[in-house]
Amino acid sequence: MKNTALITGASSGIGMELARVHASKGGDLVLVARNKAKLDELKSELEAQYKVSVYTIGKDLSAINSAQEVYNETTRQNIQIDYLINNAGFGDFGMFVETDWNKEHQMINLNITTLTQFTKLYLQDMVKRRNGKIMNVASTAAFQPGPTMAVYFATKAFVLSFSEAINNEVSDKGVTVTTLCPGATESGFMDAAAMKESSLFKGKKLPSSKEVAAYGYAAMMKGKTVAIHGLMNYIMANSVRFVPRAWVVLISRKLMEKS
Ligand SMILES: NC(=O)c1ccc[n+]([C@@H]2O[C@H](COP(=O)([O-])OP(=O)(O)OC[C@H]3O[C@@H](n4cnc5c(N)ncnc54)[C@H](OP(=O)(O)O)[C@@H]3O)[C@@H](O)[C@H]2O)c1
Repeated sequence: MKNTALITGASSGIGMELARVHASKGGDLVLVARNKAKLDELKSELEAQYKVSVYTIGKDLSAINSAQEVYNETTRQNIQIDYLINNAGFGDFGMFVETDWNKEHQMINLNITTLTQFTKLYLQDMVKRRNGKIMNVASTAAFQPGPTMAVYFATKAFVLSFSEAINNEVSDKGVTVTTLCPGATESGFMDAAAMKESSLFKGKKLPSSKEVAAYGYAAMMKGKTVAIHGLMNYIMANSVRFVPRAWVVLISRKLMEKS
């Protein structure tokens, strides 16, 4: 039987590359994002290239209860989800006092609420079967506060904390929960977050989504708890424990500001 992976945010960037990795191993897929046309393009590519079966769902995952609706659809279609990859997410760049609440509200719904609801729904089935893997995509942003992207950093801190805790709870139940923490990566993220001018991205040679996806997928297969992509990112993420908190916030602001 082929393992089926459900991947959110598979119409672009890291999610699209994760779908390609899974299909290349012969696995079936359920792909979810708003842009159904892009998902269907990817479906045609993967079904032709790897002879796998791909089911696409066009859905705004920032809408309340959207995870339940996707779960109901996979149940109706009789599709068992063996791997759940909560990858869809976005950020927003700017001072909190000036940024748009509607965009932030959608971000919190997508990055936190939907991810949590998806995890609950599919984890219950996985635990019953005593088999399954979950990967939640956080970020190196999860390790410190992020002035100029305060809400985004806080959502990713939630993802890391939540996923580590859940992984502990199910460690004897045949299920693993991996948190992937990419650093700045080449994808649609920079445009969606309006942060082309941030020194985090500007003029930098960034790792590709393909490289990050391959790394994350391998970590999920090994059942690694936290997977930080890149040596420098690993060092930075861990160094915050040895530096006074006030300095961490100041350094974080410096790294984020417009170059
Ligand atoms: N790139 C980076 O530098 C970086 C660094 C650390 C962490 N990350 C994280 O990596 C994950 C993937 O991002 P990416 O870099 O691959 O960016 P991306 O290329 O912009 O991809 C984001 C994906 O999320 C989907 N998405 C966004 N809003 C959605 C919504 N309301 N409903 C359903 N799907 C939605 C998008 O699809 P539609 O537009 O079709 O809906 C797209 O497929 C995110 O969680 C991000 O926070 C990225």
